[in-house]
Amino acid sequence: MSTSTRPVVIAGNWKMNGSQAMVQSLTQAMAAATLPDGVVTVVCPPSVYMSQVVDGLRGTTIHVGAQNMGVIPESGAYTGEISAAMLQDVGAHYVILGHSERREYYGETDEFIADKVKTALDAGLTPIVCVGETLAQREAGDMATIVLSQVEAVTNKVGVEGMKRTIVAYEPIWAIGTGVTATPEQAQEVHGLIRSQLSQSDEEMAAGCVILYGGSMKPDNAADLLGQPDIDGGLIGGASLEADAFLAIVDAGAKI
Ligand code: PGA
Repeated sequence: MSTSTRPVVIAGNWKMNGSQAMVQSLTQAMAAATLPDGVVTVVCPPSVYMSQVVDGLRGTTIHVGAQNMGVIPESGAYTGEISAAMLQDVGAHYVILGHSERREYYGETDEFIADKVKTALDAGLTPIVCVGETLAQREAGDMATIVLSQVEAVTNKVGVEGMKRTIVAYEPIWAIGTGVTATPEQAQEVHGLIRSQLSQSDEEMAAGCVILYGGSMKPDNAADLLGQPDIDGGLIGGASLEADAFLAIVDAGAKI
């Protein structure tokens, strides 16, 4: 069991994967499992399957989140967007924001992501904000500058009180979906940097901030990563599409 007062959070990011049949079998397998105490477990399906996932997991302790959200808080003429209120209406409590795939393929900037974090917080959703550097940025010695400026954009926008309700996910882009995981030491270094930057705004907020690691976390490397002092959980992509693998990571989270 963790000695930290921070909750352990294991969140599955299904990305743009799934079908009604797949959602049914995955949620059935998860609903049938006995989950350990002490781990906040979240799954983030594509929004079009949100209601099906919420129904499939009803009666379990598993929470549901979205992978993205519109930045505008009010309903209205915003074709194609899904609002924070709509996500809540169908049972979501979390939302992943600023994933590197959104930054890279959909042009989301630090400023835009920070605005979305504010919209999510104002609506009462818990944002999971992703930050992380590319391999080229790491090799150029720019890892800290990149990651910390991504965190700072959010902190500046939502302030200490907002950060108290925000989860940060460090996801080195070179480790996402590649099978190459950051070593526990590499990940801990960045998590420590993030926490120490947050502590410059507020010690208590920094000490309480849940910082997840994401990037090829699997059952066989989860325990080592989650054992690091500043790693408070995981954001799991590929392995969250298999119930056994995801649940094994949740179990690993219960042991830290
Ligand atoms: P991965 O993805 O676990 O497949 O590397 C993590 C993520 O992108 O959130």
